[in-house]
Amino acid sequence: MLTATLFSLFLLAGAQPLAQSLTVEPVKDCSELPNYNPKARIAGPWTINVDGCRNGTSSHCSIERFSTSADTTRQFGDEGFLNGLITITSQKENIKTQLRCNGNEGINQIEAHIPYGSGDLAWHPVGINHHPATGRLVWGREFEPVQFYRHSVQGARAEGIFLGSNGQTQWFIHSSGPDVSFVDYKPYWIPRLVIPDMVMNAQESKAFMRIDGS
Ligand SMILES: *[C@@H]1O[C@H](CO)[C@@H](O)[C@H](O)[C@H]1NC(C)=O
Repeated sequence: MLTATLFSLFLLAGAQPLAQSLTVEPVKDCSELPNYNPKARIAGPWTINVDGCRNGTSSHCSIERFSTSADTTRQFGDEGFLNGLITITSQKENIKTQLRCNGNEGINQIEAHIPYGSGDLAWHPVGINHHPATGRLVWGREFEPVQFYRHSVQGARAEGIFLGSNGQTQWFIHSSGPDVSFVDYKPYWIPRLVIPDMVMNAQESKAFMRIDGS
């Protein structure tokens, strides 16, 4: 336990220089995102990919550029699937989950195309399960809004558009272990947004979540 804690502190300390030079600027409207359709007021759909992943002190992550997928977290008898989380595929060819920005009704709502109810795909709002123990990107339960950001590194605008919340775009990612997804019965990775008081676990990698092609 002590070893694990010290290891986490070491990882966090090692990441500081990168964090300090990075500033983020929110993308205020769906219309500023890729594949925006002004008639539908929707941008996307796109997958979101693991970007700049760092595994411990090395930069090698097996899941760099792997895309979003999904898992349902509960089944209520006949009512079917009512909530779940956005995940990362464990293999490039596994079933991917698309997201979009819906600008109708004056709000910029991020939605995901996920199995709902009987299991048919439907667009549902997603957001951050805002607790230091989770930080997961979920639907069908209480959440804080997510939005997109542009990065500047040492004052210079960087490429890419990144998913985050409350000015934070850094995520921790860990494996589902033996758990498989209800969507494709394959293992997956779980991204969780860094929120205040969250502790990075020793087996977690750090990454950003970038709109594919942005
Ligand atoms: C990080 O490294 C560990 C140990 O080599 C490995 O088991 C794990 O799959 C790696 N994680 C990622 C995201 O590549």
